[in-house]
Formats: sequence, C-alpha cells, structure tokens
Amino acid sequence: MEPRIVTRGVTKSFGAQEVLRGVDLEVGAGEIVALLGTNGAGKTTLVNILSTLVVPDGGTATVAGFDVARESREVQRRISLTGQAAAVDGLLTGDENLRMMGRLCGLSRAGSRARAAELLDRFDLADAARRLVSTYSGGMRRRLDLALSLVATPPVVFLDEPTTGLDTRSRRELWDAIRDLAADGAAVLLTTQYLEEADRLADRIALLDGGRIVALGTADELKARVGDELSLPAPTLDDVFLALTASTRKAA
Ligand SMILES: Nc1ncnc2c1ncn2[C@@H]1O[C@H](COP(=O)(O)OP(=O)(O)OP(=O)(O)O)[C@@H](O)[C@H]1O
Ligand SMILES: [Mg+2]
Repeated sequence: MEPRIVTRGVTKSFGAQEVLRGVDLEVGAGEIVALLGTNGAGKTTLVNILSTLVVPDGGTATVAGFDVARESREVQRRISLTGQAAAVDGLLTGDENLRMMGRLCGLSRAGSRARAAELLDRFDLADAARRLVSTYSGGMRRRLDLALSLVATPPVVFLDEPTTGLDTRSRRELWDAIRDLAADGAAVLLTTQYLEEADRLADRIALLDGGRIVALGTADELKARVGDELSLPAPTLDDVFLALTASTRKAA
C-alpha cells in the first residue's frame, strides 16, 4: 500500500529565500515520524504544504493518496492539524466545544456526546469538562485544541510542536494519545524541538537541514551513523542533531 504521506522533491521559496530545496519523505499508516531541524529550517513550511495551507513551488506531495495542490479538498477531509482549532470558544465548556465539533464533523448527537466523553478522558479534561474554556490554563486549552482536531479520527495527523509549553505530565499524556492514534492506524507527522520526544515517541526521525531531509531513520540508526562518522562512543540524539545540522551553521 502506498504510504499515507509521500513527498517527492518538494521545493518552496519565500522571495529569494529557498526554504525547501527538494524534500523526499514518506510516512506510512500507523507510523509516527518526528521532523526535526533548527529554527527556521522549514518544518512548519513543510507541514503547511502537506496540510494545503501553503502551495509548493515544485515537486509533488500526496496525502492519503491525494495531491495536496490539485486535490486539496480531498486532502483537507482526511487530515487534522494542531492549532487549527480557531474554533475553540471560550464561552463554551470543553464538553460543549467537543460536541459542537462532533456535530460539525457529521456525527449524530449521541455520537458527538460519546466522542466528546472519550476525548475529554483521553486528554485528562474530564474534571474540567463542564467549565467554561475561558477559565482553562494554557496547557488545558492546548489539550482541548488537540482533542478538537481529533474528533473526526482522520487517517493523517499533523502536529506542529504539539507539546510546546506543556508540563511533563501533560506531555506524557499527549504522547500516549498520539501513540493511540498511530495504533488505530493514523499516519502521524509531528515537529518538535524536544529531542527526547522524538527519541521516545517517533518510529522514525527525519532531520531537515539546508532544505532537504539529511537523515532519516530510527533514533538508534541515527545515533549509530553519527557514532561511526565522528567516532563518538555513545552518541545521544543531541549529538546527532548537532552533528547533522552543522552544515547550515557553517554556511550561515
Ligand atoms: N509566509 C512567509 N513569508 C516569508 N518567509 C517565510 C514565510 N513562512 C516562513 N518563512 C521563512 O521560511 C523559513 C522557514 O520557516 P519555518 O516556519 O518553516 O521554520 P521552522 O523549521 O518551522 O522553524 P521553528 O523551529 O522556529 O518553528 C524561515 O526563515 C521563515 O522566516
Ligand atoms: Mg515551526
């Protein structure tokens, strides 16, 4: 079966700045891939291209078998993107927000209620379910954002820095929720600045540097590669990141 996310030679420039210079990446059903790279490497740009918010200049990208540029509507129906939940309404409760989203996604009244309860539980918001969202903490809002984007159980999930600003417990809970999504068969592409998160959560890690994927593999594979190349005895993922993003540093 074709991978859920496939990019071939994707390029994107903003003015004279070439951000993506030919990105090749595949993410299969049930797989979690973490996209790493320095600030400004182009991670968000790539996620935005795959979620049809930004049009690529060249190359091809398909999501759930549909071309992101030519069949964007079909793609939009099959994805969720974190932070897309501009729909979070502070004057509704968490439960009401989720049920409203369920109805918007075409679930029945009973189906919406059941899905809301399930997600409130999964994101540890059950106790706050009947409180107005305007009284939620930042982390709680973020968890509700994610829950909202998952009401429709899409086959492809994009998470752009999903755990930034979350405390350790919330982060762990979110990891569990993301693992559940993949176990249910979703393809998950997430960006993160937390290398531990990539190490513990992702099946494979893709390192974006100089506009291309310069390394792709399991955390252990990347560590072994850098260990060999630099004759480092027990490299950490930090070592991998620093070694493989060194080129841009030098060029910059
Ligand atoms: N709409 C835009 N117009 C002009 N330049 C842009 C636009 N979007 C992104 N850029 C530039 O493209 C580069 C890549 O940005 P992008 O947000 O994709 O990086 P990132 O890897 O997500 O970084 P971060 O880790 O800080 O989130 C940056 O130099 C950014 O300034
Ligand atoms: Mg970004």
